[in-house]
Amino acid sequence: VPRLDPVGLALVVVLGSLALSAVAAGALSARARRRRSAASLQAIDFVRTSFTSRMVRAEPLEALLREVVEALRDFLSLDAAELWIVEGSQLRLHIADPPREAPPVTLSPGLETVILNARVSGRPWAQTWIPGLLASKPDAWGLRVAPVSHAGKLLAILVTARHHRADRLADEADEILDELAREVGVGLYRAGLDRALQATLEQLRRQAGELQASRARLVAAADAERRRIERNLHDGIQQYLLSVSVKARLVERVGTSDREATNKLLGELVDEIQSALVELRALGHGIYPPLLSSSGLRDALSAACRRVTPPAELEADGLGRYPVEVESAVYFCCVEALQNAAKHAGPVARVSLSLREIGKRLQFEISDSGPGFQVGQGAGAGLANMRDRLGAVGGSLAIESSPARGTVVRGEVPLPAS
Ligand SMILES: Nc1ncnc2c1ncn2[C@@H]1O[C@H](COP(=O)(O)OP(=O)(O)OP(=O)(O)O)[C@@H](O)[C@H]1O
Ligand SMILES: [Mg+2]
Repeated sequence: VPRLDPVGLALVVVLGSLALSAVAAGALSARARRRRSAASLQAIDFVRTSFTSRMVRAEPLEALLREVVEALRDFLSLDAAELWIVEGSQLRLHIADPPREAPPVTLSPGLETVILNARVSGRPWAQTWIPGLLASKPDAWGLRVAPVSHAGKLLAILVTARHHRADRLADEADEILDELAREVGVGLYRAGLDRALQATLEQLRRQAGELQASRARLVAAADAERRRIERNLHDGIQQYLLSVSVKARLVERVGTSDREATNKLLGELVDEIQSALVELRALGHGIYPPLLSSSGLRDALSAACRRVTPPAELEADGLGRYPVEVESAVYFCCVEALQNAAKHAGPVARVSLSLREIGKRLQFEISDSGPGFQVGQGAGAGLANMRDRLGAVGGSLAIESSPARGTVVRGEVPLPAS
């Protein structure tokens, strides 16, 4: 048995205990590594299975992102996990665990390129490029920042910070952050496409609505135009032809017995046919009766009063010129009422028309001494046209009729302030 001197024995003991502690330390670090890689696998697993598949199933991205940040904090035992999202030319703190407020970081194109091309980086990098991220993260904490991008576009950054085992954070976090940043990038990119698609759909829907509305307006305008032509034919040309037919009947009755009267009537007939032609031409151009547009209500209605048989009396002093829609509404209403009197009040009835401006209103009144409205007489288009015309310019119509006192048609139209 070899003899060991005390010094040799002490050396063996020291070496032995060193070897033992080395074995123990090795065992410990292997356990820590296993724990770390288990956590890392768990985190990556979460990203690959849970986050990715739920993103494919189009679950609300906002909730998923919140889960990502919270899960990241849990898996890596972090003190802070944050997601900053690019909005226009700013980087905004979107989700923070624990919650906190932070001012946005302005992204110059240069800074965007720097972040886009960076790998997962640490505190010195953040200190240089995005110092705003360091607020609420003391110097002693480890920090990792991962850019989130897709298709060459910076979309966000993930930030992790931890105070215990601060020096180990890079080893534990970078692989996970890298993978997570890729998946979050795809998610954010798709969400951006979805938003753009939604905006396009929304725009298309709006345009379809506008198109439908404009089609409805076109149809309405075409209808209104057709009604306008109908009204103008009825109130204009038809009135001339009516008068022509009344006079032709008179010519027929007078015959050759009174040559002078017949010639006078024939002369009037020629004039009225000429006037009808002029009006027809004007209507074809969408123009109102030429005399109305050139000389106004008084002159145009004076001519209309002379035209009807028997001629009507006119009282219209102190009238001015009015907006074209007011003049045409009043003119055509008066002409229709005059024609109604000529048609329905009988050949011996006295007919008069008066117009006046009172306050800010233009009033007219056509009265005849005929038999009044007869029960059971069918209604034509004339009265409805009058109401439509006056209604369109804010006016109104009232009719009083009785066998004893004949018929009075009253209408009024508000005049514009100036
Ligand atoms: N001054 C009047 N005296 C007696 N009855 C009238 C008078 N004005 C209108 N009427 C009656 O009211 C009805 C409706 O008048 P309206 O002007 O709407 O139609 P119309 O003159 O018969 O036909 P249209 O004007 O379409 O050529 C007339 O048919 C007539 O019976
Ligand atoms: Mg009529």
